[in-house]
Amino acid sequence: MTGPKLALTDSDLTTLAADVVVVGTVQGPDGLALADGGAAVDAAFEGGLVSLLDTLGAKGKAEEVVKLPTLGKLAAPLLIAVGLGKPDADGAITEEQVRRAAGAAARSLSGRKRAVTTLSAVHLGATVEGTLLGGYGFTTYKSEAGDGPLGKLDLVAPATGALKDHRAALKAATAIAEAVTTTRDLVNTPPNDLFPASFADRAATLGKAVGLDVEVFDEKALRKAGYGGILGVGMGSSRPPRLVRLTYVGPKATKKVALVGKGITFDTGGISIKPAAGMDEMTSDMGGAAAIVATMVLAAKLKYPLEITAWVPMAENMPSGAAYRPGDVLTMYGGKTVEVLNTDAEGRLILSDAIARACEDNPDYLIETSTLTGAAVVALGKKTAGVMGSDDFRDRVAAAGRAVGENAWAMPLPEELRADLDSRLADLANVMGHRWGGMLAAGIFLREFVTEGVQWAHIDIAGPSWHSGGPTGYTTKGSTGVPVRTLAAVLADIAANG
Ligand code: BES
Ligand code: MN
Ligand code: ZN
Repeated sequence: MTGPKLALTDSDLTTLAADVVVVGTVQGPDGLALADGGAAVDAAFEGGLVSLLDTLGAKGKAEEVVKLPTLGKLAAPLLIAVGLGKPDADGAITEEQVRRAAGAAARSLSGRKRAVTTLSAVHLGATVEGTLLGGYGFTTYKSEAGDGPLGKLDLVAPATGALKDHRAALKAATAIAEAVTTTRDLVNTPPNDLFPASFADRAATLGKAVGLDVEVFDEKALRKAGYGGILGVGMGSSRPPRLVRLTYVGPKATKKVALVGKGITFDTGGISIKPAAGMDEMTSDMGGAAAIVATMVLAAKLKYPLEITAWVPMAENMPSGAAYRPGDVLTMYGGKTVEVLNTDAEGRLILSDAIARACEDNPDYLIETSTLTGAAVVALGKKTAGVMGSDDFRDRVAAAGRAVGENAWAMPLPEELRADLDSRLADLANVMGHRWGGMLAAGIFLREFVTEGVQWAHIDIAGPSWHSGGPTGYTTKGSTGVPVRTLAAVLADIAANG
């Protein structure tokens, strides 16, 4: 879905020919107040805007939307006041507060032709992201598309800073939001239309459009190179697996980064089949892969000074007469053997092949993300990703996630769990004999395939990649696009600081 056209404006917003003017409100220490950028609008109301909004019951609470006809005070006939919530002790508003308010505002603007917002005076990038993400809708499969998004949004620039910096911020935030919506589109596409070969095609098309080097391994190529994990998991489906490599070489690249994402286009559990209730949600089991593909497109658009190679394994986990069984032993890429004790622990099998291959290129950093374990959801809930890996890099990735409003928390890889993955006959079993610490055991399994010396992080997004409730802030129903913004932040951090 394409969102509204965005443009910076320095025109007088009281006379601007828009349908709606958006202002931010806050829950200040003395009650309702206008956020930065609201003063010019307030002047058109002779200083009476707060009192009018107060009469309508506005409190400035986060994501509160209050509508007010302007009765000729502004050229635009409608004013929307959107709440940012409470400022901190110094009166500051966070980027996340702006993102959420912009998301709530975007939903109330759907179907309108043109709006102008002053939220961007508080934070430009957060307003752009919140607007494009909050207004997102996936209507490909609807006979009637509904209102559709806002047509155009004029953004009032922050009072400080140079125009050229504002333009750069608009461009970067737009590209980041587009990477999130690309991820959402891929994940929201149902599994009858998005299967390994069609997913690989879409990844290749997206990558080539921005000049990435793309290679797709089909089942024959996978067999020849010994990708036993991907082939084993893919065996039960009539739609064979794929592995996609996307490579980006940036200008003056200083560091080499490898990215890996889990691309299970549907996870029935295989022979160790899942219960029927909620199985449909396993359409999102390729959320990690989608985020990696979209992040590669983003890297090319923003021209990070890095060399980045993505390895994206894709398979459908189905039960059938051809499916892999509990008890099978798979020989993984690189030669390690794995005893399959549960065919529903399939993600780690396709990921290990990809991780082992990625490590052959000696990256400085490896980031892998996957909807890997239900245990992560039990431990951290639906909104927080679990991050495991090398101590320092793991902490850096988790902090980057929190900084962009994608909650993430560092998790340990307790040594004593390694023995619980010992196998009777192979190098390793794919599950433990018990369920305690399931998220961590999956991390320990993956670590077996990471080459010594590579700084690595595993982001388990089983909780936050999918949103089952109604829309809130800039989060819409279905795919959330997590952890694209975390990945963007980590890549920008590596580009800047090594
Ligand atoms: N795709 C699931 C994990 C998952 C669960 C993602 C819920 C999103 C929401 C994964 O392949 C899986 O089935 N994991 C098993 C592992 C177990 C067999 C060790 C799980 O978590 O139950
Ligand atoms: Mn599974
Ligand atoms: Zn899965």
